[in-house]
Amino acid sequence: MQTDTQDFAIILAAGQGTRMKSSLAKVLHPLVGRPMVGHVVDAARAAGLAPVLVVHHQEEAVRSAFEGEDVGFARQEQTRGTGDAVASAFTALPDAGTVVVMAGDAPLLRSETMASLRAAHGDAAVTVLTAKLDDGAHYGRLERNADGAPLRIVEARECTPEQRAITEINTGLYCFDIAWLRAVLPTLEPHAHKDEIYLTDVVERASAEGRCRVLVHSDFGEVLGVNDRHELAQARVKLQARIVEAHGRSGVDFVAPHTAVVDLSVRIEPDVSVGPGVVLRGATRIATGATIGSHCEIIDSTVGENAIVAAFSLLDTAIVDRAAVVGPYARLRPGSVVGEGAKVGNFVEMKKSQLAAGAKVNHLSYIGDATVGEGANVGAGTITCNYDGFAKSRTTIGPGAFIGSNAALVAPVTIGEGAIVGAGSVITKDVPADAVGIERSQQSNLDGAASRFRARKKHQ
Ligand code: UD1
Ligand code: CA
Repeated sequence: MQTDTQDFAIILAAGQGTRMKSSLAKVLHPLVGRPMVGHVVDAARAAGLAPVLVVHHQEEAVRSAFEGEDVGFARQEQTRGTGDAVASAFTALPDAGTVVVMAGDAPLLRSETMASLRAAHGDAAVTVLTAKLDDGAHYGRLERNADGAPLRIVEARECTPEQRAITEINTGLYCFDIAWLRAVLPTLEPHAHKDEIYLTDVVERASAEGRCRVLVHSDFGEVLGVNDRHELAQARVKLQARIVEAHGRSGVDFVAPHTAVVDLSVRIEPDVSVGPGVVLRGATRIATGATIGSHCEIIDSTVGENAIVAAFSLLDTAIVDRAAVVGPYARLRPGSVVGEGAKVGNFVEMKKSQLAAGAKVNHLSYIGDATVGEGANVGAGTITCNYDGFAKSRTTIGPGAFIGSNAALVAPVTIGEGAIVGAGSVITKDVPADAVGIERSQQSNLDGAASRFRARKKHQ
């Protein structure tokens, strides 16, 4: 809830992120199912700050990524550096008070860190969060005087060799006195590099007035900025580890935690086991007692209590009810519903189909646009022929029906309750309840013909 006393967080997200070498704006790159800058927004909110995003590149895409969320926006007319970016958000801020500024490309920052920086700020003009790094790489360096008081921040590209050797880097998280910043920002000179105004230059001004505070953060892993795809991968690994750890602490057993890929949005109840190499995405929900075998990918799907999804299965927008068994090697496409205790075995594909409780499709089948009744058994290799090249049609299989192996059920077609379909039949007409439907040419057995055949071959 936004109140009158709530501080704002300005999140810088206007840059293109050239080093990503991507057509997608840097801050929109997905990380564990949320755009990179979404993690920054979430942390700001959790720290009690009202987020305002500074946008320019792919502005519309950035705005729409937050549709329905309580996020403010400010437009930076030209991306003329981080100082200019903050200045373009002034209209969204009160005249006085404190504002927290952070980069949209630091998705690992925790809300606790933001809150402690805010708490440390007091009556300073600028409070900056730094971290220690053996090799400061491309980060700005915090230079201090002989007494250890802060002097200025120097960008890596502008460092002298001595400054380059400084191990204390600028994380890009700051608190500012708004009135002071309003007065100082317009007086900054652009740098030769792309004619940019550096937000970091205000540190030298505040230091000269004795109003700069520095908070050194102990965990560099949390302040990592994402500038290229390798840093994106590093951030993903860290966020993933946090998610898997949180599930582990709440009772989910990850057999090989470092191999799991689990979106932030996934919900898993306690007492679930997740095998190696499992991918869980989007709105997936997994109920207690379920087992997810190795290398399954589950997207926007629900897995019920005590259900088993065995190895190498792919579920997309599917529902697997309690105690059902799916896989190994099953593919459930959108609209698949596997009822309580039902079974879908290896190399079975389902789409827009419902298996009622206890129904079984155990081997090598395609079940598309079909309804399968309670306790029905669909034999190996059975195909619902749902498409004639023009339209899709439905197949209905009644409760307790038995479909022999390798049947082709040509839709639209209905197999009645308790009916039997002979193996190998091509069924084009409805089979009434309790009837046997069989479509097969007569078999003839020629007595002794096998050895006569072999003898003939031998003497050829
Ligand atoms: C910046 C800091 C550097 C710090 C590092 C931490 C400056 C001058 N340098 O460098 O000291 O160590 O962050 O990660 O501030 N942005 C805009 N508008 C612009 C330019 C940038 O919104 O005109 C946004 C970008 O989209 C990005 C953020 O500001 O989200 C940081 O910009 P970036 O170019 O990545 O700065 P760094 O070079 O990493
Ligand atoms: Ca950066």
